[in-house]
Amino acid sequence: TMKKTVVLGVSGGIAAFKAAQLTSNLIKKGYDVEVIMTQNATEFITPLTFESLTKHNVMVSTFEKVADRSVKHISIAHRADIFVLVPATANVIAKIVHGLADDMLTTTFLAADCPKVICPAMNTGMYENPVTQKNLEAAKALGYELVEPEVGYLACGDTGKGKLADITHIEECICRILETTGLLRGKRVLVTAGPTREALDPVRFISNHSSGKMGYEIARAARDMGADVTLISGPVQLNVPHGVRVVQVVSAQDMFEAVQQEYADCDIIIKAAAVGDYRAQKTEENKIKKQGEFLEITFVKNPDILAWLGEHRVSNQIICGFAMETEHLLEHAAEKLNRKNCDMIVANNLHEQGAGFQGDTNVVTLLQKNHTETLDLMSKYEVGVEILTRLAALSKERGEA
Ligand code: PMT
Repeated sequence: TMKKTVVLGVSGGIAAFKAAQLTSNLIKKGYDVEVIMTQNATEFITPLTFESLTKHNVMVSTFEKVADRSVKHISIAHRADIFVLVPATANVIAKIVHGLADDMLTTTFLAADCPKVICPAMNTGMYENPVTQKNLEAAKALGYELVEPEVGYLACGDTGKGKLADITHIEECICRILETTGLLRGKRVLVTAGPTREALDPVRFISNHSSGKMGYEIARAARDMGADVTLISGPVQLNVPHGVRVVQVVSAQDMFEAVQQEYADCDIIIKAAAVGDYRAQKTEENKIKKQGEFLEITFVKNPDILAWLGEHRVSNQIICGFAMETEHLLEHAAEKLNRKNCDMIVANNLHEQGAGFQGDTNVVTLLQKNHTETLDLMSKYEVGVEILTRLAALSKERGEA
């Protein structure tokens, strides 16, 4: 099999020397590494260092020289399985999020259509500047993976956020992407996310604390793994990942109808949404006026969307639900796995540190029919990758059976 190609873009910061260690580690792992440096980066570390490690010429050039080497940089852009900026300076980040291409590095970056990872390293003041923060948000919205810098002692003498992430951490991120891209190519994945709102009157509703992060990160991971992704989302304050189709809904009933529209031609369905179990029996047409000491509202059950999917499963479809519990997590999750006829239930406990609503991390137990495993604390994106890797394997098995 062909070696996978990692293109490393090195820009001009003191952390540039760390890119040499990363290069060495990646070569040892069996990847082909191509290095492109900005002119400034060569002030910190020489191309010869990288050339010795990679056995390839390092590309450095200003725009004038790009023209005659254009064939080379386009061919590298095509060959790249991943493009990693280590370190990414504030200047280079600003350029790439605006599509500027005035040297070899930024030109190749613009031409490449592969997963892209940005590892910022800079002075704390530059990092925390709202302009840089805005550019990093833009980078995320464009679908680039960000390996956040750490807090530490910086070369300039300051202590603060801006230190290049640990090399092993960057390496793990690269390997994870290289191992999982393409795993869901040709698959249609449907994800539901966020809370539902059940209206009481034109002014009020009942809902829950779901931020939608878990579902959105699953959608983003599925996209990165090559799937064609549709996200059915309750009301949340999140940007839809680039390349993901979204259907916005408000109530459980809306979500049910959207799922019924979408489910039939999906290979994998993941229900991360926190769906309201009950809705007011009657939504008042006018605002409920403040009256006596007590207010009584009668609630009726909403359709259970996941159970419905379990009953209407299309031949080789894989169905994954979630279980959010505050007690007896695994018993309740196992019960949901059976009753709702799912292939997997992702159980999370509201009381566990780093798990559940709102935060960027989760701690989950994955329950399958004959197999249960608890994962360590990790980002919701990584949880998404773990879930999808297993569901992809199940989907493959079922397709071959
Ligand atoms: O959005 P975040 O802030 O990132 O938080 C993530 C999360 C905690 C919401 C998520 O990790 C999670 O656990 N989602 C499911 C929450 C939930 O509703 O759990 P449940 O145990 O009540 O429901 C079990 C399953 O049935 C879920 O897959 C749910 O989508 C589904 N369900 C529930 C009720 C209903 N009427 N229809 C359904 O389909």
